[in-house]
Amino acid sequence: MKRSCYCGKVDESFIGKEVVVNGWVHSRRDHGGVIFIDLRDREGLVQIVFQPEKKEIFEQAEHLRSEYVLSVKGEVRNRPEGTVNPNMFTGKIEIVANVLEIVNPCPALPLEIDDYKETSEEIRLKYRYLDLRRPSFQKNFIIRHKVLQEVRNFLNEEGFLEIETPFLNKSTPEGARDFLVPARMAHGSFYALPQSPQIFKQILMVAGFDKYYQVARCFRDEDLRADRQLEFTQIDMEMSFVDENDVMNVIEKMLVKIFKTALDRDIKTPFERMPYDQAMLRFGSDKPDTRFAMEIKDFSSEFANCGFGVFKSVIEKGGVVRGLCINGGAKFSRSEIDGLTKFVSEYGAKGLAWMKITAGGAESNIVKFFTPEEINAIITKFEAKEGDLVVFLADNAEVAAQGLGALRIKMGKQLGLIDKNKFNFLWVTDFPLFGWNSEEKRWDAIHHMFTAVKESDADKLTFEDAGKAKARAYDVVLNGVELGGGSIRIHKSDMQSKIFGLLNISQESAREKFGFLLDALSYGAPPHGGVALGFDRLCALLVGEESIREVIAFPKTQKAICPLSNAPSPVSEKQLKELGIRTVQKVNAKQD
Ligand code: AMO
Ligand code: AMP
Repeated sequence: MKRSCYCGKVDESFIGKEVVVNGWVHSRRDHGGVIFIDLRDREGLVQIVFQPEKKEIFEQAEHLRSEYVLSVKGEVRNRPEGTVNPNMFTGKIEIVANVLEIVNPCPALPLEIDDYKETSEEIRLKYRYLDLRRPSFQKNFIIRHKVLQEVRNFLNEEGFLEIETPFLNKSTPEGARDFLVPARMAHGSFYALPQSPQIFKQILMVAGFDKYYQVARCFRDEDLRADRQLEFTQIDMEMSFVDENDVMNVIEKMLVKIFKTALDRDIKTPFERMPYDQAMLRFGSDKPDTRFAMEIKDFSSEFANCGFGVFKSVIEKGGVVRGLCINGGAKFSRSEIDGLTKFVSEYGAKGLAWMKITAGGAESNIVKFFTPEEINAIITKFEAKEGDLVVFLADNAEVAAQGLGALRIKMGKQLGLIDKNKFNFLWVTDFPLFGWNSEEKRWDAIHHMFTAVKESDADKLTFEDAGKAKARAYDVVLNGVELGGGSIRIHKSDMQSKIFGLLNISQESAREKFGFLLDALSYGAPPHGGVALGFDRLCALLVGEESIREVIAFPKTQKAICPLSNAPSPVSEKQLKELGIRTVQKVNAKQD
């Protein structure tokens, strides 16, 4: 029967009318000779009533099981008093069935289509089509769709052109491993799937398109986490004749629209801007979650001459001592505190010193090494109260920031300090241009190698001083998640060559890998800059999910497998031969 209305859309305006609904049996209840079915489609549930008087379809209804596909014709009426469900859009009405067509039966299910039933991820992904039937998923994907349309509308109105760039590329370095595609026409050569459209979007600026965007699929062969997939979607943008503020303004305006559309929330702009150094010092992270305070404090000057050897010697060697005050943490047991020490050791910390704040001062195994003035300084700086626990990490600035930054988030979650209803946006700015790669003893680009240096730091582009140079880069952060990042780019060929040189890329290799970009930059490239938002991360935050897998229809597992299709899988000898490829068995993981 031809549908006249979605199940989830039947409301009181239909009372007294006949409707046809199509959908899946969500649940069945037998009550005193009457059968109730909740029929489900993507818009929601509606209650269908089968009365015993209609003998033929009543008998059919007795055989209905979960996930049978039905087409039902019936009359809409008010639910009897006392049975109204105010939490459901269709909760005031029900459909009395007149005609029932069983379109397709369904065997017993390997998982339950109930939002509240937990099932292992392996099973959920193997039967993803069943998993995706869950009402929460249907809602997630409807929001994802709406947000994407809003993004397109907004960018179109702002004068951006949607232009596609190739999937089959030369590698675009973004710091991850490439996915390679063997070239049938040139054995031994490979295309790389794009880690991002970075170089192509810059070339589009050289071509004069002025404002570009793309809903871009990106591919990165990296270890998977809750916020990372092998393939993901970016809202990728580039603009000519702009500075940092222009790019940030467009993104802020777009996010305001998105949050209004998706959640009816008013987001305040401009977003806070925080230099990278400050983010690392105060929050121990370049993507600070500012929904709760518990800021890190530095005690390197207070403890420079303290009697605790561990701190003194670390500071003497140029390291730092920083700490956190955990409200109410004095009640932690010794083994709980040992747990915190173990936690920070995963970030390279060699220990975690601690003191419990008491009415008279502080208590711990190391208090004896500190003067009353030093203890006072701790209490004052943290504004610590009786019952708090203060912890300190002495190490180089990087380990101290990482260890305490991670501990801050862990404690924030554990102590329930994070207001889940808040959306705290901020821009992290003034990133270093380069980071030292101590293994390979060379500089790496922090954002990417096409990022311009701050004008005031142009004189720092030497091997010795490169670590001090700041980049014209910016990240947009929401609730401790890096939502997106971008930069003003280098638009002069000679400057780009100089940066390649600092990154230890020989002229020959730069020519071979990036000659086409260097050439393009030499033919009248306009100043330009851009940004890319992680669209999956944005959607996950909008629907309140921790993992981007909840907003991706067919994600990979942690082991980079698709349990539904069983990808990746071996291919035939014939295919390999055509591609000129011979494979070797992986004997021992250590050998690769
Ligand atoms: P970047 O590498 O910072 O910048 O990526 C931009 C945003 O993409 C998202 N993202 C991911 N999402 C899911 N899974 C992943 N594996 C993954 N990796 C990144 C993040 C991130 O902030 N070309 C530059 C942008 C530019 O300079 O314009 C780039 O790709 O949310
Ligand atoms: P020790 O002198 O090794 O017995 O350590 C005394 C206390 O200092 C213990 O609580 C250690 O966890 C802590 N500690 C040791 N090294 C560090 C460090 N680098 N930073 C902070 N605390 C430390």
